[in-house]
This record gives sequence, C-alpha cells and structure tokens, in this order.
Amino acid sequence: MKPPATIETARLRLRPPVMGDAEAIFATYARDPEATRYVSFPTHQSSAEARAYLCRCAVGWAGDGPFTWVILLRENGRLAGAIDIRPQDRRVELGYILGREYWGHGYMTEVVRALSEWVLAQPEVHRVWAVCDVDNHASARVLEKAGMEREGRLRRWAVHPNISATPRDFWCYARVKATP
Ligand SMILES: CC(C)(COP(=O)(O)OP(=O)(O)OC[C@H]1O[C@@H](n2cnc3c(N)ncnc32)[C@H](O)[C@@H]1OP(=O)(O)O)[C@@H](O)C(=O)NCCC(=O)NCCS
Repeated sequence: MKPPATIETARLRLRPPVMGDAEAIFATYARDPEATRYVSFPTHQSSAEARAYLCRCAVGWAGDGPFTWVILLRENGRLAGAIDIRPQDRRVELGYILGREYWGHGYMTEVVRALSEWVLAQPEVHRVWAVCDVDNHASARVLEKAGMEREGRLRRWAVHPNISATPRDFWCYARVKATP
C-alpha cells in the first residue's frame, strides 16, 4: 500500500511529518499528560523523544508503514495532531491524537472519516479498524461518528503506560467493505 502523502479535508491538511515538526509535536500534545492518557507511548519528557518518533515515522513511509501524517489547520497552518494507519494483510488499523486546544471541533471525526474512506477504496483492503480504551469516551464517539461499528470488548488488550502497567480493556471498532 502506498498512501498519498497529502490529504485535504474541508478544514484540515495531512502531510508526512518532518524533523522540523518535533518542537510542535512536543509542545502541542506529546508532553501533555491529559492528551497522552489513553495512548500507547509514555508522555514525552523532552523534544528528543519526538525526534526519535519522527525517525520511526520516516522508516514507516520508506517501507510498508505505519504511515503517519501530521494534521494541520488549513486556515493557519498550525499543527494540531497526528494520525497513522498500519496495514496488516487485508485490514488497516488507525491511531490518532490531537492537542487539547483542538478538541471538540469535530476535527478528528473529519480526518478519520476521510482516511477510512481512502483506505476502504483500496481494492486489497476489506477492513478499517481501531481500538480505544473503554474509558476513552471521546475516541469511541469519533469512531462511531466516522461510521465504524463497535464489535466488542477486548479484555486486557493492551497497556496504557500513562495510566498503569496493567493491560486494560478496549473497545474494538471497524468498518468493512460490503460483500459483493
Ligand atoms: C479522542 C480525540 C482524538 C477526539 O478528537 P476531537 O476532534 O475532539 O473529536 P470530535 O470533536 O470529532 O468528536 C468528539 C466527540 O466526543 C464527544 N466527547 C468528548 N468528550 C467526551 C466525554 N468525556 N464523554 C463522552 N463524549 C465525549 C464530543 O461531544 C464529540 O461527540 P459529539 O459530536 O456527538 O458531541 C481527542 O480527544 C484526543 O486527541 N484525545 C487524546 C488522544 C487520544 O485519546 N487518542 C485516541 C486513542 S484511541
């Protein structure tokens, strides 16, 4: 799979991250304990951690993924967050985050909807899916508004390191291609 480098929605522009995004990523969400509460990486303590993450993003784009985009507001070019897709066989998983100041405007719903539609339009893909912590109500709502169905509860699915070292329960959401 080779996704497009840039994707535009009504209010947002997605592009691959570059090393110069490290400070904005660190300042906008990666250092924020609240924004990183329900993510799989520890809250960053310095922008060096954002730079290491950006190196992994570049490796993903050079190979088979994950493919990561930063999310920019079209009106002023500000970096609001990031989203990635992870192709696995005929299914593709999504993950995302926004800085707290950008929450509640429907931005992530707009991005997840656009990216899910692109993913499901690929002939080889039959399923786009995501998981979220059962306590992450905003994320569950984004996935529902973007057209995914809740498929079930994944018990003890994964650790959210900024909460505790104990694996937590997650919801599994997906949208699938209609059978011919
Ligand atoms: C989850 C996240 C991406 C949502 O982004 P967003 O752009 O604010 O989402 P939207 O505005 O598109 O939609 C959010 C929805 O959740 C709802 N919501 C927000 N907080 C909520 C809460 N505590 N309980 C229930 N619903 C909530 C909003 O009302 C909205 O639904 P509505 O349109 O029906 O009113 C953002 O909060 C975020 O980045 N959080 C931190 C990182 C994270 O959790 N990532 C996901 C990991 S699975």
